[in-house]
Amino acid sequence: MKAAIRYQYGGPAVISIEDVPKPNPKKGEVLIRVHSTTINRTDGGILRGKPYLIRAFSGLSRPRKTTPGTDFAGVVESIGEGVTSWKPGDRVMGLNDHGNAASQAEFMVTDASVHMIIIPEGISYQNAVASLEGAHYALNFLNKFSLQAGDRVLINGGTGGIGSAAIQLAKAEGLHVTATSSTAYMDKVKALGADEVIDYTKEDFTLQDNIYDHVFDEVGKRTFFECRRILKPGGIYISTELGPYWQNIWLALITPLVGGRKVIFPVPVDIPSTLVSMRDHLERGSFSPLIDRSYSLADIREGYTYVESGEKKGNVILELNQSN
Ligand SMILES: NC(=O)c1ccc[n+]([C@@H]2O[C@H](COP(=O)([O-])OP(=O)(O)OC[C@H]3O[C@@H](n4cnc5c(N)ncnc54)[C@H](OP(=O)(O)O)[C@@H]3O)[C@@H](O)[C@H]2O)c1
Repeated sequence: MKAAIRYQYGGPAVISIEDVPKPNPKKGEVLIRVHSTTINRTDGGILRGKPYLIRAFSGLSRPRKTTPGTDFAGVVESIGEGVTSWKPGDRVMGLNDHGNAASQAEFMVTDASVHMIIIPEGISYQNAVASLEGAHYALNFLNKFSLQAGDRVLINGGTGGIGSAAIQLAKAEGLHVTATSSTAYMDKVKALGADEVIDYTKEDFTLQDNIYDHVFDEVGKRTFFECRRILKPGGIYISTELGPYWQNIWLALITPLVGGRKVIFPVPVDIPSTLVSMRDHLERGSFSPLIDRSYSLADIREGYTYVESGEKKGNVILELNQSN
């Protein structure tokens, strides 16, 4: 089979496509024919081993897994001894948040207990896989504290993988959503469900008169100190990034003690709940992932380069076995 392989941390140039033996599922394992995976910012971080904290999960001096990949959508090809929860032919989607899925290959073998779920009927592999990584982060943001229907939230970066999912998931919770976008994508962000859209290239949202219950900086571009003035007393600020001098970690420790506006640092957890939640959303038709473009395995380096540019809109798909 063909697989993306890299033996060291680095940029897209460290990836090559190699012919490697198709893995055999051992006891308790499942072999999956991967149809689609995404190239996402988690994959980018693990490719480079940065921030260094990531290496605690992915390998200290070199990557533990030579094949990258965080999420997958495909078909169970065969099962190892003792596997009862899956059968050949099952259409599955799954997520392994530390880049350990090794899904950027035509086949992947995984422990049967690794988090995956049946893809709802009528949902394509692309739509299934594009509903996982960004949505997992977005759900973790929304689940970090109690939200009331009608709360006003500002989502900075409505076109990102996380932001585009967050808009839809926040609307499903009955929140009032204001999202930011560059000029060309304002209609797209509105179509995702945002009540209001601010063009971040023309207006600084931190200087406006509107006040929000919560600010979710989904692209990690604005600090708590900048957003403070548009937060209600007791309002929450969450960012996808550590912030200058990793301030979002220490602010998450200090601000709850001080009282008033608070920073929460969201470590994403509970993949099983994300999978159930996203399966239900896909079944109900209440979530439709934003997909930017697709790459073939042969063009995977270009795919990573584009994702690293910080310009992707929603999700970038890597196609493996193209009979979707
Ligand atoms: N280290 C990790 O493991 C990890 C994992 C996941 C996510 N993250 C972080 O989480 C963040 C979001 O990830 P993602 O996948 O959602 O991002 P993404 O899809 O790469 O976000 C890119 C989008 O952000 C928009 N954007 C760029 N600058 C902006 C600004 N100043 N204000 C508003 N929007 C802006 C871009 O729109 P335009 O091109 O139109 O400007 C683009 O559509 C990233 O910072 C990423 O590093 C880290």
